[in-house]
Amino acid sequence: MPKLTLHPSGQVLEINENLNVLDRLREEEIYVRSSCGGTGSCSDCMIKVLSGDDNLSAPPFEEIQLLGNVFHLTKERLACQLKISGDVTVDISHHNIETDQERREKKNKEFIKSKIKVKKKAQVDAEYVEREKEREERMKERDEWKGHWKKSPANRDDPMNPKRLGGGKRPKLFKSVEREELDKKDDDSEK
Ligand code: FES
Repeated sequence: MPKLTLHPSGQVLEINENLNVLDRLREEEIYVRSSCGGTGSCSDCMIKVLSGDDNLSAPPFEEIQLLGNVFHLTKERLACQLKISGDVTVDISHHNIETDQERREKKNKEFIKSKIKVKKKAQVDAEYVEREKEREERMKERDEWKGHWKKSPANRDDPMNPKRLGGGKRPKLFKSVEREELDKKDDDSEK
């Protein structure tokens, strides 16, 4: 069975050819960062290959999309996409659970500080009053518009009663083309 040697610990693991490196490390409870769960979309599980380049599986499309086709320069592979068919040594020294935990906590604190703003009661009350005022204005406007044709006199020529909202006319009811055709038919049949 192929052997996977871990740097810097020097630990040697036997690995099935059909199992990817990330899953094998997880079996041994060895920490490797991962936020996509091994689907090849976060690139967190990146490891460095120190030896055994010829024994690596070809990178799948997802991996090339994330890391590019530059393995010969960087020697970096995604642990979740990598399978091996012979002895390989990889460097996992930058996967450190403590520093990752610290970084995550720091990030969370910064996020909470930056996003959550606690409003003072006076501010909330003032906003409430403001909103109530706006709501009342809206209701007033709506009442003015409601049944406006009833409020407007029919006599448009009267200078004392100028045209009001909507021209003082009752709005026409909506008529579809089909409806008009039906009406026409009714009229014709009555004749
Ligand atoms: S775990 Fe996310 S890319 Fe490997």
